[in-house]
Amino acid sequence: MKSSVKKEIDKLVEELNEHSYRYYVLSEPVISDAEYDRLFRRLEELEKKHPEFVRPDSPTQRVGSVISEGFREVKHRIPMLSLANAMDENELSEFYEQLKRFSHRNEKDIELVVEYKFDGVAVSLTYEDGLLSLAATRGDGMRGEDVTANVKTIKSVPLKLRTDTLPELFEVRGEVVFLKKDFELLNQERIAAGEPPFANPRNAASGSLRQLDPSVTAQRPLTFYAYALGAVEGLQLPATHYDAMQMVRRFGFNISPLLERVTSKDELLEVYKKAEQERNTLPFEVDGIVVKVNSHELQQELGFRQRSPRWAIAGKFAAVEEFTTLKDIVVQVGRTGALTPVAILEPVEVGGVTVSRATLHNQDEIDRKDIRIGDTVIVRRQGDVIPAVVAPVISRRTGKEKKFRLPDKCPECGTSVERVEGEAVLRCPNKHCPARLEQRLIHFASRNAADIEGLGDKMVALLLEHKLVNSIPDLYTLTVNKLEKLPRMAELSSRNLVDALNKSKTISLNRFIYALGIRHVGEKTALTIARYARSIEKFLSLTEEELLALPDVGVETARAVVAFLSNDEEVANIRRLLKLGFNIEPPPEPRDAGLAGKTFVFTGALSISRAEAQQLVESLGGKVSSSVSKNTDFVVAGEKAGSKFKKAQELGVPV
Ligand code: IVH
Repeated sequence: MKSSVKKEIDKLVEELNEHSYRYYVLSEPVISDAEYDRLFRRLEELEKKHPEFVRPDSPTQRVGSVISEGFREVKHRIPMLSLANAMDENELSEFYEQLKRFSHRNEKDIELVVEYKFDGVAVSLTYEDGLLSLAATRGDGMRGEDVTANVKTIKSVPLKLRTDTLPELFEVRGEVVFLKKDFELLNQERIAAGEPPFANPRNAASGSLRQLDPSVTAQRPLTFYAYALGAVEGLQLPATHYDAMQMVRRFGFNISPLLERVTSKDELLEVYKKAEQERNTLPFEVDGIVVKVNSHELQQELGFRQRSPRWAIAGKFAAVEEFTTLKDIVVQVGRTGALTPVAILEPVEVGGVTVSRATLHNQDEIDRKDIRIGDTVIVRRQGDVIPAVVAPVISRRTGKEKKFRLPDKCPECGTSVERVEGEAVLRCPNKHCPARLEQRLIHFASRNAADIEGLGDKMVALLLEHKLVNSIPDLYTLTVNKLEKLPRMAELSSRNLVDALNKSKTISLNRFIYALGIRHVGEKTALTIARYARSIEKFLSLTEEELLALPDVGVETARAVVAFLSNDEEVANIRRLLKLGFNIEPPPEPRDAGLAGKTFVFTGALSISRAEAQQLVESLGGKVSSSVSKNTDFVVAGEKAGSKFKKAQELGVPV
C-alpha cells in the first residue's frame, strides 16, 4: 500500500519536473497550465498525508519559510573572480594580441568562445549527489551569502540535475536576471501601489534575490542562465568550455543563447558588433559579450592576474545610462486621465539613441528621488524600455535648481485633478478632456492595436487641431477631400491614410479590445479576454464574475472592464464602429500552427525588424536562437548574411 503511494509521488515529481523544464528552460510546454496545476495539487495532497515520502527535488519544496536571521555567510570553494573589460574594438583586438604573446601561438590556434555578458546578479549553485544543496551570491568573491531558499523558487533552476550518473559535487555558476518585460510590469505595479520602482532589471533581480521571505521571491519571475563551472568532483570534464556548456545545458540549465566559437580577430569583431546590434531584441539585459579561451588546457596555461583570468575578457557595449541636464518638467495627460510628469532633457545619446524626454512616473517618485528642475540627472534607456530619469547628481547642484509640484488642475482642460485612494497618481476626471482623447486616438492607431499606418501623434494632433475628429469612430468618417485641405497633406498621403483606415476595419477581437484603451488591459489581458469571449457581442455582455474566472485577470482589471462596458458612450462608440463596417475576427488560437518545437536563427538584413520576426515565430509556437547549431531547424538569411549562413550550410540546416 505504502509503496504504491511512494511510487505515485515519485512519478508525479518526475513528471512535474519534466514539465517545468520544458516550460521554463526549453519554452516548449507539452501540457496546459491547468493540467500542470492538477498534477501539482495531487502531489501536494499525497505529500500532506505522507510527509515521509517528500523528496528534496519535489516542486512543492520550491517555496520555504521566512529566513529570520538574515543570510548566512558562505565561503566559496573556488573564488568567484571578475573579468577585465575591453571598452571597444581596439581593446578587444589587443586581447587577442596578448593571448598570442602569452601562449606563443598563432591566432588560428587559439579558439575563443563568445557569449553574452548578462547584467544580473552572479550566483553559484552547488549540487551534491545531484541535488541542489546551496545557492550563494558572489559577495566579495571569497565569501557570499546563502540564498538557497530564494534561488529554489526560480523555476529555471533544476532542483535535481537531469542526468543518470549523478556527480558527487557539481558547482555551476551563472547569473540571475529579471526579464525586461517582467521588469516593466513589476515597476508599473509598484508605481500603482505607491512603492518605489526599481532603477533597472539588475536592481530588481538583486532586490528580489535578497528577500528574507522566499514567498516574495517566488512571485518575482527570475531566470537563471549558467555560464561557467565551479568545483566539480566525480565527473569527467570536457576539454573545452564550449562542450562544458553543452553538458550544463543537458543537465537542465539555460545557457547563453549566443555561444559562438571564433578563430580570428575579424570573426571576433564581427560577432561583437552583431551582438551589440541585437541586444535590444533580447528578452534580458546584457551589457556586453564575454570572450573566453575555449580549451581548458590553454586556460590553465594562461592562468590569472590579480583578480581576473588572463583567458577571458568582457567586451562592453555602449552604456545605457548617461548624464544630462533636466531643463524642465512638463505634465502629460494620458488616455486614462493620469497626469504624468515628463522630463525635458538636454538631448543626450544613450546606447545609440538620442533621448530628449523621459518619464518621471509621478509626484511621489520626484519627491523620493528629490529631482529638481536644473539638476544634472542620470538617464537610462534600454531596448523597448521607456527612458527614465534614475537619479539626480546631488554633487553637481548649484543651488539654482527648482523643486516641482504637479498642478491641482488639469493643464489641458482646467478640471480639478483627483487622487485615487491608495494610488500614487493624480487623474483628470473629465472624460471629455481633449488630452485624453488625443492619447486614446494615438493608442487606438498604434502598431499593436488597430495599426493604422500614417496616424501617429503628429497626425492625431493635426486632426484635433482642425476639429476633424471628436471620437474614435469619427476617424472612419474622414475622406480624401477633408484630409487634403489640412496643411502639409497632399492628395497621395490623404489617400494612403484613408486606405489605411479602411484596412484597419478588419481586426482580431484581441487587438480591438486592446485598442479600446481600457485601464489595466494590456495586450496579454486583451488576448485572454478575447479568447474567452470569442465575439464582440459576448465581450459587450461580460460580467465581473466571468472576468475574474479568467487566468491573470484580477479584481482591478475586471472592475475596469465592467465600468467601461457600463459606460453608454463607450458602448455607443463601439456600436458606431460596427456600423461603419468593422469586421471583428476571432482571436488567434493558443500556440497553434506548425512551428511548435522549431528553432529559427536570423542572419543578415531582413525585410522586417528582428523583433518583429521573433514575435512572428514565437506567436506560432516556435523559438528564436542567435546561434546556429545542429538543433537549429531553419536559418532565415537576408542580404549580407555572414558566419551563421556558412555554418548552416556546413551543418546542412535548411536556409
Ligand atoms: S565568466 C572567471 N561569463 O560578469 C570568469 N561572467 O566581471 C568568471 N557575467 O560577476 C565570469 N555574464 O557575474 C562570465 N557569460 C558570462 C557572464 C559573466 C555575466 C558577470 C559575472 C561576473 C562579472 C565579471
